[in-house]
Amino acid sequence: MPKPNEAELAEYAARRARLMQAIGEQAVAIVPAAREVIRNRDVHYRFRQDSDFWYLTGFPEPEAIAVLAPGRKEGAYLLFVRPRNPEREIWDGRRAGPEGAVRDYGADQAFPLEEFERRLPGLLGGRARLHYTLGEHPHWDARITACLRELRELARRGPAAPEAVVSLDVTLHEQRLIKSAHELALIRHACEVSAVAHRRALAMARPGVYEWQLAAEIHHEFESNGLEPGYGSIVGAGDNACILHYVENSAPLKAGELVLIDAGGEYRGYTADITRTAPVGGRYSGPQRAVYEVVLAAQKAAIAELKPGNSSARPHEVATRVLTEGMVALGLLPGNGSASVDELIAQEKYKRFFMHGTGHWLGMDVHDVGRYKLDGQPRVFQPGMVMTVEPGLYIAPGAEGVDPRFHGIGVRIEDDVLVGTDGPQVLTSGVPKDIDDVEALMAG
Ligand code: GLY
Ligand code: MN
Ligand code: MN
Repeated sequence: MPKPNEAELAEYAARRARLMQAIGEQAVAIVPAAREVIRNRDVHYRFRQDSDFWYLTGFPEPEAIAVLAPGRKEGAYLLFVRPRNPEREIWDGRRAGPEGAVRDYGADQAFPLEEFERRLPGLLGGRARLHYTLGEHPHWDARITACLRELRELARRGPAAPEAVVSLDVTLHEQRLIKSAHELALIRHACEVSAVAHRRALAMARPGVYEWQLAAEIHHEFESNGLEPGYGSIVGAGDNACILHYVENSAPLKAGELVLIDAGGEYRGYTADITRTAPVGGRYSGPQRAVYEVVLAAQKAAIAELKPGNSSARPHEVATRVLTEGMVALGLLPGNGSASVDELIAQEKYKRFFMHGTGHWLGMDVHDVGRYKLDGQPRVFQPGMVMTVEPGLYIAPGAEGVDPRFHGIGVRIEDDVLVGTDGPQVLTSGVPKDIDDVEALMAG
């Protein structure tokens, strides 16, 4: 990851300032970086920074900790980082060290990580609240709770221990839910490149090509543009499309089948999340078209609900209704009239063929942070929220009581949508979804 430029440094500083404003001068926050994870023996998984830590610091290295201590006179923003080590750096790559953390990443003060425990009592002592998400970072939980105990034991002679340990998520994740202009530019870019990647894959989806070859096409487009997959790419041909988290991607495509592709690239920490379902032979068959049209109608109706002031439960309610009506029309569910659609919805009969939600927040994490309910009620959409809209219908092979022409058809259509001040903005419209447009793309 390149060092942050001036604009990025200002963005990170503004985020920290907002968080510190929210927690107040009586509080202190601790945010650990991600740690490296062994894949097998001497090999690590590709390192991915913790999203909360990345959001607040832009610091790209593992084994670091940020402390935000509002009003602290030596500086409110501290980083504890791996020290410089010429020998380790020959093997594992460059380290900023404490000096680089101040010079290049805007820390007010920085220290070697090994000093964290020694300095912690001084940072926590006298603060009323510690904002730290217990349970997420087992390595640090033990050290931080030991420090709290030590402070309580010394309280008669020294500063008091914090009275409360508050989950940092609550405040920070509300902040992350509303995307800044800077974040939206990154999300838009991730969506644009991901749309090109999907178009490339659709254009080469023909009988005999393997699912992994379509995944490779997509990953080539991601990586040659500085993106990486934001989650495990799904390429499911035929009835593999009915397995929601199918990531084997090992089967050949066959004429007459559909192929479902769910893939999104991550750009500087922000991911897209796109699904398209296309006909391998280039033309949807009658039953495929019938199912596809229902899902597409549900998706478009749900997208229209992403308006400021609307309940965030609306897209799922609307998609569920359109899908259920469609299931009745296709004969997948029994029905006669609107009363029975209401009953089918109330009894959740649609879940046999539509078993997931219609969308989720999107941002640094594909299933991004932010509460879906406030005080038990679905929250209301606000400008700057980004959500996926991804209804689907999945008719298992051999589904009993279902016309065999529908067996093994799985369709999902997923776009990423910004709640704009004037209404929904689809960020992933660069990849076609209307039947004629998909068929035209596949015909080359
Ligand atoms: N790709 C994960 C999801 O659609 O939620
Ligand atoms: Mn999704
Ligand atoms: Mn997806």
